[in-house]
Amino acid sequence: MKGLIGVALISVMMAFAEPIVLAQSSGVDIYKAKCLICHAVDGSGNMPAGKATKTPSFNSAEMLKMSDADFLADTRNGKGKMPAYSGKLSDQEIKNVVAYIHTLQKK
Ligand code: HEC
Repeated sequence: MKGLIGVALISVMMAFAEPIVLAQSSGVDIYKAKCLICHAVDGSGNMPAGKATKTPSFNSAEMLKMSDADFLADTRNGKGKMPAYSGKLSDQEIKNVVAYIHTLQKK
């Protein structure tokens, strides 16, 4: 009986947890799903779609000078050939993915 209650409880918890996980993906998951196609796994932009759109490397001198606020604003609003993600990603997800991009940058 106890076991059954446990299983029922876990199912209920999972039913609630799943949409939350989907709505708030981690930075690395978002990057792989939406950004890697242009920005490449290492952030170099060395991808066919990255070359076609002239995606700059996150380690270019110009990018290293950009502030966190610039990255957040440009991910929300888009810039040049870079698509806008406000409405497509939650604000928390935009923060997560930008935090992940910083990990691809040389310190
Ligand atoms: C269609 C290709 C493409 C995709 C997909 C893409 N980007 Fe970009 N991204 C670009 C290009 C091109 C630029 C350079 C924009 C410019 O300076 O004109 C850029 C620039 C940026 C910058 C720097 C903006 C700045 O301040 O100059 C950030 C941050 C960025 N992208 C984040 C992301 C994130 C996060 C995603 C995924 C959610 C993403 N990009 C998906 C093409 C892309």
